[in-house]
Amino acid sequence: MKTFIDWLMPESASTISPQVDAITYFIFAVSLLFFFIIVVGMIHFVIKYRRQEKLEKTSGVDHNTALEIVWTAIPTVLLVVMFVWGFRVYLDMSIAPKDSLEIKVTGQKWFWTFTYPNGYVSPGELVVPLNQPVKTLISSKDVIHSMFVPAFRIKMDALPNRYTVAWFEATKEGTFPLYCTEYCGTSHSKMLATVKVLPYDQYLKWLDDASSSMDGADPVALGEKIYARNACNTCHSIDGSSMIGPSWRNIWSSSQNLSDGSSVVVDENYIRESILYPQKKIRAGYQGVMPSYQGLLKENEIEGVIAYIKSLEDK
Ligand code: CUA
Repeated sequence: MKTFIDWLMPESASTISPQVDAITYFIFAVSLLFFFIIVVGMIHFVIKYRRQEKLEKTSGVDHNTALEIVWTAIPTVLLVVMFVWGFRVYLDMSIAPKDSLEIKVTGQKWFWTFTYPNGYVSPGELVVPLNQPVKTLISSKDVIHSMFVPAFRIKMDALPNRYTVAWFEATKEGTFPLYCTEYCGTSHSKMLATVKVLPYDQYLKWLDDASSSMDGADPVALGEKIYARNACNTCHSIDGSSMIGPSWRNIWSSSQNLSDGSSVVVDENYIRESILYPQKKIRAGYQGVMPSYQGLLKENEIEGVIAYIKSLEDK
């Protein structure tokens, strides 16, 4: 059953969330208490000392030692409690246990990829085992992004040219949203991924299946999968409408104008080149904002994308 407390916070699904929640509620309760003390006191004095015809002269007392010690000591103790408690939780959040499973997280405009120890790259979906510490090594291929999983109470910036670390241990099976929480350009709000928590044996099975499923699949189906999973769909439509990038519908074997005034016929080589070196030939009317997929897509996956674009031709 949902309590009032649950209603205030997102779902709690990691070992660190109860600790983060407890200190948050403590600070919130202290703030609420002082809010009432200050506001009630203020209203009381405003009424008591409002402008009146016959206002008594104030006394010559200019301080009260006992009162001043009390209003210094109590907040000091409260703030020290907040600091020490908060710092301990911060340390717990910062230092990943030694037996953590390591997963590389890469942010780039505008999607996330997750690289497993065996080299498998999962786009858009981070699958992790239950009750097992997971250490994420986070980086970015372009601008600053930030990984945020509210259910785990973790948030860490993704910076280009260096690694940052966040870790968590999931305590609940299920699917949880992962957000980009640092404004990173046009499709920042669409830079979403999911975290899926599975029991350990199912996690191993998933990794095994996922690592092998990309081989030998039907090229068009593979391309369609990549279109969604590598987030091509945030910039390229398949219905002919123009988004940040040109649509994929009916472009196969057509002649297209480029921004330098020349033109190109959309064939295997042009698509391959555009996937690996997107800045080389930019279609007229578009900006060169596409990231390179070098190292992210395998050869058969690039072939899959080509086959998929081919299949988007109205016969
Ligand atoms: Cu990536 Cu916002």
